[in-house]
Amino acid sequence: MTDPRSLRAILCAALFALATAASAAGPASPVVHPELWPKAKSPPLVDAATEAKITALIGQMSLAEKVGQVVQGDIGSVKPQDLREYPLGSVLAGGNSGPYDDERASPQTWLKLAREFHAVALETRPGHVPIPVIFGIDAVHGHNNVVGAVLYPHNIALGAAHDPDLVRRIGAATAEEIATTGIDWTFAPTLAVPGDARWGRTYEGYSSEPDLVRRYSSAAIEGLQGAPGLAGRLQAGRVAATAKHFMGDGGTTLGEDQGDSALPEAEFVGRHGAGYPGAIDAGVLTVMASYSSWNGTKMHGHQALLTAILKGRMGFDGFVIGDWNGHSQVPGCNKDRCPAALNAGVDMYMAPNSWKKVFKSTLEAAQSGEIPMARLDDAVRRILRVKFALGMFDPARPYEGRFELFGSDAHRALAREAVRKSLVLLKNDGALPIRASSRVLLSDMSDLAMQTGGWTISWQGSDTTRKDFPKAESITQGLRAAILGAGGKVIDGADDLVAEKPDVAIIVFGEQPYAEMFGDIKLPFYNQRTGLREIEHMRALGIPVVTVFLSGRPLWVSQEINASNAFVAGWQPGTEGGGIADLIIGDAKGAPRHDFTGKLSFPWPGAAVLAPFTHAGDKLAPAFPLGYGLSYAHGAKVARLSEDLGGR
Ligand code: GLC
Repeated sequence: MTDPRSLRAILCAALFALATAASAAGPASPVVHPELWPKAKSPPLVDAATEAKITALIGQMSLAEKVGQVVQGDIGSVKPQDLREYPLGSVLAGGNSGPYDDERASPQTWLKLAREFHAVALETRPGHVPIPVIFGIDAVHGHNNVVGAVLYPHNIALGAAHDPDLVRRIGAATAEEIATTGIDWTFAPTLAVPGDARWGRTYEGYSSEPDLVRRYSSAAIEGLQGAPGLAGRLQAGRVAATAKHFMGDGGTTLGEDQGDSALPEAEFVGRHGAGYPGAIDAGVLTVMASYSSWNGTKMHGHQALLTAILKGRMGFDGFVIGDWNGHSQVPGCNKDRCPAALNAGVDMYMAPNSWKKVFKSTLEAAQSGEIPMARLDDAVRRILRVKFALGMFDPARPYEGRFELFGSDAHRALAREAVRKSLVLLKNDGALPIRASSRVLLSDMSDLAMQTGGWTISWQGSDTTRKDFPKAESITQGLRAAILGAGGKVIDGADDLVAEKPDVAIIVFGEQPYAEMFGDIKLPFYNQRTGLREIEHMRALGIPVVTVFLSGRPLWVSQEINASNAFVAGWQPGTEGGGIADLIIGDAKGAPRHDFTGKLSFPWPGAAVLAPFTHAGDKLAPAFPLGYGLSYAHGAKVARLSEDLGGR
């Protein structure tokens, strides 16, 4: 099957080739004003003695081995034995990759493959300097590529929790699970500030407001990596983090994935740069370049921002990883050759299936001087610095194989806490909390795919089945357990509602999972409108309805909200669906067992008109503003929302 992103990359490359041919001169290198950018400084990632070791290592390395360090291949393409001919410095497992082509491999099998790569990289061979290969993966809401991992709510939900310490604890727990499988590095956190729900990656952002992203960034980094300056991170069950995607991924026109952020410099910095100073000051070891462009210049070729600003003004001393063939979008480049990206400040090419040709073309460019040796040496130094800072040269990797930490009960409890803290109560006319001893009709929500969203086992998360989540709890399971546990009755399906009329119906509906450009939308409606018919049917029978909406973004659901007695924004809660029951099912007497604390970190649209997120007072004012969220302790009557498609 051709990876859809490859097709996309081919199309993008073709379009850029045409554009490049059309504008032979290409855009001049943009001028930036450092004084408009925040100052930051990586804490010392390693000590002076280690820097001396790095200098000695670089002095021993052949040109080919230096070039190998700046090329990363995907495990779906590169095999451990390939490292003998192509001494790559890194491998990754992309969203659709698994050990030995098995996306559902066990944690033990992931560890086996990681160890095979390390063994070849550390072999003593003539002309080879043994240097560990750093293995990266998208663990963006838990160790989500691996069956059995605990999956947390996606970032949009964590934003609604307004709890940086929760984000830190989730980072630490995720790092432990990653470390058990022999992997060193996660491409997380995303520090995007999404500005438009049309973007398919909105859910990867914490908030549409820079300040919350700013508050979360250092916590996310420290959770994954440990405190700044921590020596031997891997030995402490920590991994390298990635601040991504630098910069402006969430600010593209119309929310187009990989599009252009057309913004004045000061606004660009103020909004989309918000998370980076905190991440750098917290010692983030890597930064990922964005596919997007700023005012027409692709970030993978933006020397002013990648070098003068990120590494100069903002003092970043780790390394910049490119995105998945992201270098191919630089004018004059393709996925097999792009010296311009390295010269601009990318330190490592993410060349998933193009690594052989990228290795060869980069070696030629280094030999010809098209890539200056000083630039190559600087990139290699940064990469080795990160490997030393992680503790990769220390053979002890005590967390490997500690599978009691993988999918542990403690991590599940943390994830369930995160679910509770992330839910936002948009409306409640008194239907909540549901008395646990009630007769409750449940719409079937055992679909873990909707509950976990994209970046789950596979890239899109749309091909998973229940057996991919061996210890997970579906939303329905959680609700059933809470009701039956208190002597209540669950009515499945709506066979004969007159005969056994329920006291209340719980309807769960929302978006099917998606990732990246596959989540981009042009219409204001989510892709599932089944909820409204169900809700209205119950109401016509005189049955109160509690609705839980699962989505990766706020969408126009004013009709469903109006038709419901109570309405909860559930986002994509992850494997611990029981957290929803904790909030909406009270005790046998009807008292709350937990209360809502979640507050919107994105405004909720009041009009069926897709536009950038708006604020109170704007023409297309939101139905519910930033910071909105009801609770049992602080309820409010919600007026009927306009169902006029224009929101007037
Ligand atoms: C993707 C994403 C990036 C991810 C990378 C590796 O295209 O843009 O966020 O880390 O490829 O899977």
